[in-house]
Formats: sequence, C-alpha cells, structure tokens
Amino acid sequence: MSNYHIKHLEEYWQVYRKSVRNPAVFWEEIAEEHFLWRKKWDEVLSWDFSKPEIKWFAGAKLNITENCLDRHLATRADKTAILFEPNDPKEEAQHITYQELHARVCRFANVLADQGVGKGDRVCIYLPMVPKLAVSLLACARLGAVHSVVFAGFSATALATRINDCNCKLVICSDGSYRGKKTIDLKTIVDEALEQCPGVETSLVVKRTGGAVVMKDGRDKWLQPLLDKAATTRAATIVDAEDPLFILYTSGSTGKPKGMVHTTGGYMVYTAYTFKNAFQYREEDVYWCTADIGWITGHSYIVYGPLTNGATTVMFEGVPSYPDYGRFWEIVEKHKITQFYTAPTAIRALAKENLDFVENHDLSSLKVLGTVGEPINEEAWHWYNDHVGKKKSPIIDTWWQTETGGIMISPIPYSTPTIPTFATLPMPGIQPVLMDENGKEIEGNSVEGRLAIKFPWPSIARTIYGNHERYRDTYFSAYPGNYFTGDGALRDAVGYYRITGRVDDVIIVSGHNLGTAPIEDAINEHPAVAESAIVGFPHDIKGNALYGYVTLKETGETRNHDNLRKEINQLITDRIGPIAKLDKIQFTEGLPKTRSGKIMRRILRKIAGKDTSNLGDISTLLNPEVVQDIMDKSLA
Ligand code: PRX
Repeated sequence: MSNYHIKHLEEYWQVYRKSVRNPAVFWEEIAEEHFLWRKKWDEVLSWDFSKPEIKWFAGAKLNITENCLDRHLATRADKTAILFEPNDPKEEAQHITYQELHARVCRFANVLADQGVGKGDRVCIYLPMVPKLAVSLLACARLGAVHSVVFAGFSATALATRINDCNCKLVICSDGSYRGKKTIDLKTIVDEALEQCPGVETSLVVKRTGGAVVMKDGRDKWLQPLLDKAATTRAATIVDAEDPLFILYTSGSTGKPKGMVHTTGGYMVYTAYTFKNAFQYREEDVYWCTADIGWITGHSYIVYGPLTNGATTVMFEGVPSYPDYGRFWEIVEKHKITQFYTAPTAIRALAKENLDFVENHDLSSLKVLGTVGEPINEEAWHWYNDHVGKKKSPIIDTWWQTETGGIMISPIPYSTPTIPTFATLPMPGIQPVLMDENGKEIEGNSVEGRLAIKFPWPSIARTIYGNHERYRDTYFSAYPGNYFTGDGALRDAVGYYRITGRVDDVIIVSGHNLGTAPIEDAINEHPAVAESAIVGFPHDIKGNALYGYVTLKETGETRNHDNLRKEINQLITDRIGPIAKLDKIQFTEGLPKTRSGKIMRRILRKIAGKDTSNLGDISTLLNPEVVQDIMDKSLA
C-alpha cells in the first residue's frame, strides 16, 4: 500500500487510520520517500499547542527549489512546468519547461543576491499573474529569503502596511497589469506605498504593459537588463526545515492584517502530498488553478504543490469574463486541462451567463473539478457538476485556510462519494473536532459546532510575524489544546463535514477574507462619520456582500448622501482596496448597543439579510428605539 497516492475509499480509511495512530511515523515515511533532503531530521515532530510551538522535521536541511526544479531535471527537463495563458487570447501562450524555469529562477536569484538579498531577508512581491511572479517566489526560496506576496489588487496603504510589518528591504513590482479590457497602473500604487516605507532600499520593476512610469533614482531598477547579465546557475542556499519560507497576510477580525509565517520542510511535504491526492494528479496531466498567487491557494496549489510533483501548472493572467464568459472553457479546451480548481464566486458568476459559453467548448479532458474559498451553495455545485463536469468529473470541495497551508478537508476524487456542499472527510493526518460554546468537544455524528483541529499537521503556520502572542490568542486560546479555525461546521450521520461559515467578524466576499474592523476604521476616518458597523448579507454572485450602517456626526447632516456614500467607498478603496467596497450604505440615527456599549451586530446582520421575523430580545439594549428606525429605513 502506498501512503502517497490513495486510489479508493477503503484505502483512504486504511491510510487515514494509520495517519492518526502514529502521525510522526506516517509523515516520516512520506518525507523519506518523495523528497530531496540535504540532511535528514533529528526529530519528526515536537509540539505544544499551549505555547504554541510546533516543529516538523527539525534539524533537516533542504532547499525547496531543489525539490521543485533541480530534482526533476534528470527525468522532466523538457516537460512544461509553467504554462502561461496571457490576458489577451491573441497573445501566444508560453510553455516554460523545467529546464527553462530552473535557469530563470537561478538568474533571478543571482540578481536578488546582487542587490544584497540573503537568507532570512524579507522580499515583498507585488506582481500580476505573469510567469515572473512564480519565478520571483522561487528565486527568493533559492536564496533562503522569505517572500511576502501582496495581491496586486490591494491599495497603496494596504501594501505599505504589509511591507513595513515585516520590514521588507526589497520590492518586486511591475509597470502595470492587464485585467480584461483594463490596464492597471501598478507602479504608481507602489510609488505611493513606498513613500511610507523607509526600509525599502530597492525596487525591481518588471515590464509588462510598457506604460509610462517614473523610476526613482537609486531605488527603482528595471529587472530585465539585470537578468540579461546574470548567470543561469545558482547553488541553492540550504536552510533548516523550520526556517521560514514565506509570510502571507490574512485579515483578522480586528487590528492589522496577520502575517502568517510558513516554514519550509513541513509545508513542502504537506502541499506535495495533498496536491497529489486531492487532485489525483498523474504525470501526463495539465493542471489549472484559477486563483491568484497573491493568495494561499496560489502559493500552495499553483506553485509549490504542483512543482514538487513535477506537474504542468497553468498560470492565467486574465479574468473569466474577457473577451467573453467562455474564456475559462476556451482555455480548458485549448490546453486539455485535466484538473480545474476555482472558487464558488466564479462558478456563480459564470452560471448566470448563457449556457452556450460552456457548451461550445470541448471539456472532455477534465477529470477533477475543485472549489475553494467559501461554502459552495447547492445550485452552484449542481451547475458545475452538470455543465462543466458533465456528471463525470468528481467535485472536490476543499476546505482550508491561509493558516493551514494546505487542503484539510476534501473528498479524494474517485474514492470519496461526494454530496453537494459537503467538504466530506479530513485529509490523512488531519484530526478535526467540533466544539460547543462552553469549549467542550461534541462527540458523535449528526452534530454541529465550531471547527477545531486537535493535532498538528506539517503545514500549519508557525506564528504571526512579529506577534506570537496574537497567534496564540487567535488560534489556541478558545479551545486550549486545539487549533481553532474560526469556522462553524456540522458533521452528518456518516461523519462528513460541511463548513457552515465564519463564526467571527471575518466576512468572505467573492472568496476574499475581509475583517470588519479595518473597514470600519477606514469609514470612521471620514470627517462626517461618528461610527459605523459592517455586516455581511447574502449575495448571488459574491456569496456575501457588505452592508454598512453609518452614523453621522451631526444629526440632520445636510450633505448629499450619495456623495457621502461615494466618499466612504473611496476611502475604503484607498485604505484596503476595491474588494472591500460596500454594496449598501445606510445612514442611521444610532447603532444598537448592549449596556456595555458593544454594537449588536447580530441584529444588524438580520436586518441586512431581510430576516427580521425573530430579532431576539432587544429590550436589554441600551437604545432599543434605534432598531425600529433602522428597519424602517433599511436598504435590504
Ligand atoms: O471560512 C473558511 C473559508 O475560507 C476561510 C479561509 O480563507 P483564506 O485564509 O483566505 O483561505 C482561502 C483559501 C484556502 C475559511 O476559514 N473556506 C475556504 N474553503 C472553504 C471555505 N468555506 C467553506 N467551504 C470551503 N471549501
């Protein structure tokens, strides 16, 4: 029996039982067989969730790029590693072989080293979905430098916060990006951000759109001329398994974004293992994940998971609606995609369009369909299953998080029978538990509670950069001895899990995690605003959209409310990015509060969701009278 590739349900259960009986032995066998280590570990696992401190493969030495690249050169040098599909369908796709990718990564690493980047240094990457984005991650890893990718849809302020939080000294950016019909001037955003980032010495600029940019003397350098002069080989810097590989920011319910730190060895083993099993990856496959590398899905399942397996991974620069709503399916047909991994929000958007967009394409190459990022509703699941998978390709509803590094709960396609909206069973090595409100584990089946994980897995984030205490408080204090996910879930009669959504103040909009507090902070900066509260409400395409209740400083504020709404959304765009804009803004006389002054979001959520039949007991509120007024003027 191979632990590494599960092929039927019975085998899943055998592997699963083994993995929880003795996790260290289980992961050690996988780590031994499938990777290139320069030195083996002293100890497979040591952990203490109360500190919390978690170490996998401590003492082992490796470089992840040797596993992603060098190791494949003997057998797969001419195989396509990255298949780049540009925004404009008339621009030719690029097939970058393992040999070529190796050379490009080495060149880039040499340039970074020339600019003074070394082991442990943080490098910020703010790039569109072009091959240099993947290359830049790997070039950092080649040097043992820590990459911090910031999604290139974030605003200058959000970028500056992330650069400063982990003291990046170098930024890799581009002149601009193409997204459908739009050309976006990214360099200006970076310039604005860097005014607030005194620690950044150098920015390397990738030319993509050819738009006019201002290059700041002494700081900004075009990347290509430096690459042209650099050597195509570079010895990998050998790091410890527990050395950091990257930082990736995710929203918290309060405060600034959390820089989740992922380390090298465990992350490599877990993403490789889950890639192979969750997608039932085979050597000849052409795998496509539509996520952006700016998110964890892209890190783990566009770059590291596929490349450690020697796979062909597609990078798509564009959007699903350009030049028309058939673009995804045109790409599937053109490149004969075998595994397709996307988000429910994209499925819902495409399902609204004419079916011809799907049916005009030959999708017979598809074997596995994946979804990630938020709960998938039943209607979207069926549309995906009927029209894309033609009821032949299993749908894997993969539940996981930035913090978990890899897929945690998911069907194994062709093994686990699927049920719409259920993420089904834990991956080997993952031990989910449901907790009740008093912190007690809920045992048995047909139960619902808060989802926690009671045993470490190799790719769990090890800390929040610069704030270990926040890491402990956020994930390990609610249920001592367990990692708390922040999600609610139910376990059905056969033990399948269904994720029901966040139980904290994080709202998932179009698959993006947004904390309510930072958005409220941005709104409250407006001089006319006294206070505000954000809640989510159901939205056909985005899953959730944002509803803001805003109280103005002067009652009877005479300014035009539409203008105020625009100004508020502009502030949010400037502080966070357009993804956090509010769909609805209601001006209120006050916000419902408890006697201790806490805003009762539960009531606001119900009003925004048009569910006011049972608001619960509002008599204990400090100001129950505002509730009726808010309901009367509701925009829901
Ligand atoms: O609420 C869960 C939801 O997305 C959150 C994690 O978001 P992020 O860190 O941005 O990572 C997204 C990509 C891995 C989770 O706490 N989520 C993710 N996948 C699913 C999901 N909710 C339901 N079903 C899923 N398959």
